[in-house]
Amino acid sequence: MAQIIVLGTQWGDEGKGKVVDLLAEYADVVVRFQGGNNAGHTIVIKGEQFISHLIPSGILQQKVCMLGNGMVVDPGVLIEEIDYLEGKGLQITPQNLKISAKAHLIMPYHKAIDLGREKLKGEQKIGTTGRGIGPAYEDKATRQGIRFAELVNTSLFAKKTALCMQEKNFYLKEYLHTDVLQLETVLSEYQEYAQRLSPYLTNVSVDLQNAIKTGQQILFEGAQGTHLDIDHGTYPFVTSSNTVAGNACCGAGIGPRDIDGIMGVVKAYTTRVGAGPFPVELFDQTGDAIQKKGVEFGATTGRRRRCGWLDLVLVRNAVRLNSLNSLVITKLDVLSGLDPIKICNGYQYQGQVIDEFPTELEILEKCQPIYESMPGWQADLSGIRSFKDLPVQAINYIKRIEQLTSVPVELISVGPGREQTMMIKNPFQS
Ligand code: GDP
Ligand code: IMO
Ligand code: MG
Repeated sequence: MAQIIVLGTQWGDEGKGKVVDLLAEYADVVVRFQGGNNAGHTIVIKGEQFISHLIPSGILQQKVCMLGNGMVVDPGVLIEEIDYLEGKGLQITPQNLKISAKAHLIMPYHKAIDLGREKLKGEQKIGTTGRGIGPAYEDKATRQGIRFAELVNTSLFAKKTALCMQEKNFYLKEYLHTDVLQLETVLSEYQEYAQRLSPYLTNVSVDLQNAIKTGQQILFEGAQGTHLDIDHGTYPFVTSSNTVAGNACCGAGIGPRDIDGIMGVVKAYTTRVGAGPFPVELFDQTGDAIQKKGVEFGATTGRRRRCGWLDLVLVRNAVRLNSLNSLVITKLDVLSGLDPIKICNGYQYQGQVIDEFPTELEILEKCQPIYESMPGWQADLSGIRSFKDLPVQAINYIKRIEQLTSVPVELISVGPGREQTMMIKNPFQS
């Protein structure tokens, strides 16, 4: 029996959704513990594409999926996602979808504030997904948030919402100079959501404990990536939750002793959406080639992702912050045809070599990557299913990543399809 966390080591979009879908075959329960519909996962099964934002990717294997207390959930988007997945032939019932009654709601004013603030910031904007994530976590921290438990209590919900909206409408009108929202409209919209979603509400912590007691295996699905973490990422160009492994416990309601393994997903190169420092960013033809071949467009906002070579200073930071015990390399196929291939293994800052990821943004912004070059390969990797069949240059690339991070690579992905994968070691079968 094993309980495994899968999370991103870079700035998100590492291919976590694909990896979770694949590993869900061996799990009984898949749980998300933070974030909301800022996440966007694209999964391809037998040529059919699925895009999800809230429901853990384990739903495609029809496993029990849970939304933990650490999430902020837009109920309208969740209902749309349930309908979308049902339209694709999947069954979604209160038996296989469970929402923590402690999870916080994203309210219409959170979205309006997120968008209004970004507009006001102009050039200084963070480049958020505009889904209301930051304002919802802000209300949670200032104890003005509204949880699913309150959504289904009509009078309490109306009381809390009315109080909150007085302040929010003042802020929207007077500070952000944008439209105010009507209380009655919000209440009637959310009343419908309450009716639809109430059967799914549960105590996720208790459900997980029961699952562990009865010998079930749990997969914790991270969203965003380590460097978008509110504490450890490139603050303030981050999201508003803790994305690191430690928060899997807090955001799902279990203790650290219940975790057995932590897998870090590493894209074979680096991407970032939104603003913020990115030392290995490429502004040349190679960057364009990676962007094009990797189809690097955001699944949530459709924005073009910024691209660069693999940054191992970044990945080593994630190894420490999450105590990773294995790595998954995704999108190795995208590097075919690039020769040489570069790996950043240190930064140059004011004539000095730095090999730890800097805390101060002002330093990070001035860091120049120090690259080592490795011979590339020409072969198309997308049909390869065994590690030994990879070109020797690709094998050497993987081995170099293992050497420089001191963490074994246990899974390699060479295409978006579920089957385009090489499993070197199954984390659920020790
Ligand atoms: P997530 O947010 O971490 O789940 O990642 P996204 O789904 O946002 O972005 C990853 C993208 O790469 C998706 O479009 C996947 O279908 C695709 N993908 C995942 N693994 C591979 C791979 O090994 N090779 C290629 N070419 N595409 C992949
Ligand atoms: P997945 O799970 C990539 C980025 C946004 C922005 C910053 C803050 O698909 O890997 P937010 O809306 O969270 O306040 O935006 O975080 N961001 C992501 N980037 N992948 C994600 O999720 C992201 N979720 C948020 O682009 O820079
Ligand atoms: Mg994504």
